[in-house]
Amino acid sequence: MPPQERVFTVEVPQVRFGAHALAEAGEAALSLGMKRIALFTDRHLAKDSPWPGELAQHLKAAGCDVAIYADVRVEPTDSSFQAAADFYRQGGFDGAVSLGGGSVMDTAKAALLYATHPAPFLDYVAAPYGRVLPVPGPLPPHIACPTTSGTGSECTGIAVFDFEGQAIKTVIAHRRLKPTLALIDPRVTATMPLGVLASTGFDVLTHAIESYTARPYTLRERPASGSLRPMSQGANPWSDMGSLEAIRLGGRYLVRAATDRQDSEAREGLMFAATLAGIAFGNSGVHLPHAMSYAVAGLCHSFTAKGYEQIPPMVPHGISVVLNAPSAFRFTAQACPERHLDCAKALGATCQGEEPGEALAQALIRLMQAAGLPNGLAALGYEEKDLDALAKGAATQPRLLNNAPLPVCEADLRAIFQNAQQLW
Ligand SMILES: [Fe+2]
Repeated sequence: MPPQERVFTVEVPQVRFGAHALAEAGEAALSLGMKRIALFTDRHLAKDSPWPGELAQHLKAAGCDVAIYADVRVEPTDSSFQAAADFYRQGGFDGAVSLGGGSVMDTAKAALLYATHPAPFLDYVAAPYGRVLPVPGPLPPHIACPTTSGTGSECTGIAVFDFEGQAIKTVIAHRRLKPTLALIDPRVTATMPLGVLASTGFDVLTHAIESYTARPYTLRERPASGSLRPMSQGANPWSDMGSLEAIRLGGRYLVRAATDRQDSEAREGLMFAATLAGIAFGNSGVHLPHAMSYAVAGLCHSFTAKGYEQIPPMVPHGISVVLNAPSAFRFTAQACPERHLDCAKALGATCQGEEPGEALAQALIRLMQAAGLPNGLAALGYEEKDLDALAKGAATQPRLLNNAPLPVCEADLRAIFQNAQQLW
């Protein structure tokens, strides 16, 4: 029997959190040796929000030279990653600042990677599509400024994209992709549509619950050396701490933030939950609901969620994850029932005698109803005939499936998807 793991790694990103954190961008950039800066954002933020202009102003006031790249694709693809890398490569930059949601921050990570360590695109991509080669050296400095309280991308070494050839989402994951500094300014969420707040807020909750219920790090095989320990190392005492607090804050603030435009306390609380969850799952990993979400988002191209009317139809990440979450947690609860019960209680459930998986599923469903989310995969247009393709798509995410607290096969995934068709 291979030796089991006894050690876990804690990698904590540098974070500055609070109102007007963006005003520290110039000084932070200079201290990281950045003078000529590529500022990544998306067209909607550039056109409809004050934040890219304000951030560029702070950078210029410190003496930095800034070139804005606003062509980031929402839900990026392999070709949009490569277009951003071409921009960075040709610009003579010495660092990047990203301002946006996960799509923008992930695009900046990929641009820095391919511009700095050029390679055929699939070399760094996760299995089974890519060659999973390690990033051979450090990347230039990257200051990430999230505008959604959700992805946690500012704290992780993961870049998610639609792999166009395979109609699936997949990732590039390596600790060298982690931004050098996160500037998290809760003021920016004031301009988010409420529907976007709801979707990204459920991404926060699932990050935290999946991190807390992931396979314990002690059940993984010990690597040949500490530096080979994966980022998805499983639940550990450090990630447990941030995950539970993120679940508690999400339970308290998500519905308030997603339904009341005036509730700045809720938006700030949710933003901090996103930060905690990002730091936690960056050190533990997520599992089934995220593996399933990549198939859901990859196959459906006709759904428009509330708050996303300005862009072509697609399933927003948080929705594609959380619609699977109740049925996934009913399945995983058998492996660690007490941890599922902890999550249900952290969400505010009273839990009087229900099965732990059911208690957690119902606590999540109550929040989803209150926030106005679609009622299961059927509401996105999925039917019985799609279940095989969904299960097949999710089965090709070994990085995530191996982090689940129990083994899961394609037939299990099909049954979990079936259970996710309608939630209430
Ligand atoms: Fe996520």
